[in-house]
Amino acid sequence: MVNYKDLGLVNTREMFKRAIAGGYAIPAFNFNNMEQLQAIIKASSELRSPVILQVSKGARNYANQTLLRYMAQGAVAYAKELGCEHPEIALHLDHGDSFELCKSCVDFGFSSVMIDGSSLPYEENVALTKKVVEYAHQFDVTVEGELGVLAGVEDEVSSEVSHYTKPEEVIDFTQRTGVDSLAISIGTSHGAYKFKPEQCTRDPKTGRLVPPPLAFDVLDEIMVKLPGFPIVLHGSSSVPQEYVEMINKYGGKMPDAVGIPEDQLRKASKSAVCKINIDSDSRLAFTAAVRKVFSEKPGEFDPRKYCGPARDAMEAMYKEKIKDVLGSENKLAQ
Ligand code: G3H
Ligand code: 13P
Ligand code: ZN
Repeated sequence: MVNYKDLGLVNTREMFKRAIAGGYAIPAFNFNNMEQLQAIIKASSELRSPVILQVSKGARNYANQTLLRYMAQGAVAYAKELGCEHPEIALHLDHGDSFELCKSCVDFGFSSVMIDGSSLPYEENVALTKKVVEYAHQFDVTVEGELGVLAGVEDEVSSEVSHYTKPEEVIDFTQRTGVDSLAISIGTSHGAYKFKPEQCTRDPKTGRLVPPPLAFDVLDEIMVKLPGFPIVLHGSSSVPQEYVEMINKYGGKMPDAVGIPEDQLRKASKSAVCKINIDSDSRLAFTAAVRKVFSEKPGEFDPRKYCGPARDAMEAMYKEKIKDVLGSENKLAQ
């Protein structure tokens, strides 16, 4: 058993409280490898932002759970080396799909876990989430639950259509489970193809797809039912067209990739939405940079020469999110 406090990590309770009061959101960035982690820590430390490092079940299998724990511990030391004396870094399980997985992460030094029972019948979601909360809270590990279904793929759970969170369920769910935060569905979705072209309009000048707006009315209703309660938005990559165009220019094929416009995320950040999940944008920045190097220098075979530019591109993207979208710059407590 490893307690996250011994690794220098923090849970999400205090960071969420301050984010709601201050009208900003905490970035929750997924990582699977060293370059992503380096870019996240450099961006968040240099901008003095609290940050949530997210690990999915797939990432845990890919990177190895023991290595991940030491990487997170190393991330705290790296943040200090970069000048953050008191970094606020949470290590969070993204889309946990069983009690056993959540327990294993708690026991392995995670400071926060998500139990995603959103695809289960309501009562089963309540029972599973409550069980995880009862275990995690013994170790002061915070728990995120989910109500409503996002379109797209959530690890092994996938859905063609999204079902918005039902505001009439949120009081009962949070009270009976004791969760610390609630992920909701208001029209975001996972991946780089969040909307079908027929769901969008087209900007006549650029020809780019313009997606439909998020359901802020549903968010408003939820906030009335749960005043001051931490709300989480998954599927919040904006799918920057500069990366999509670079990928397509250098041999890729991602037609009609489209994300959530940043002005909508900015608006959400000012509400009770205090955690915003971003994974796909990092994948896009990484891929665009690697493709560019391979296309311009086909003889390159030193991974540092293409993973380095990929890391720089991700760092720039994370910084832009922190500064201009989520508003979490300079929000460390000390
Ligand atoms: O919500 C899904 C995250 O982007 C994680 O994706 O399961 O492919 O690691 P993954
Ligand atoms: P994106 O695919 O929009 O980056 O969403 C990531 C996410 O929700 C991780 O849980
Ligand atoms: Zn998600």
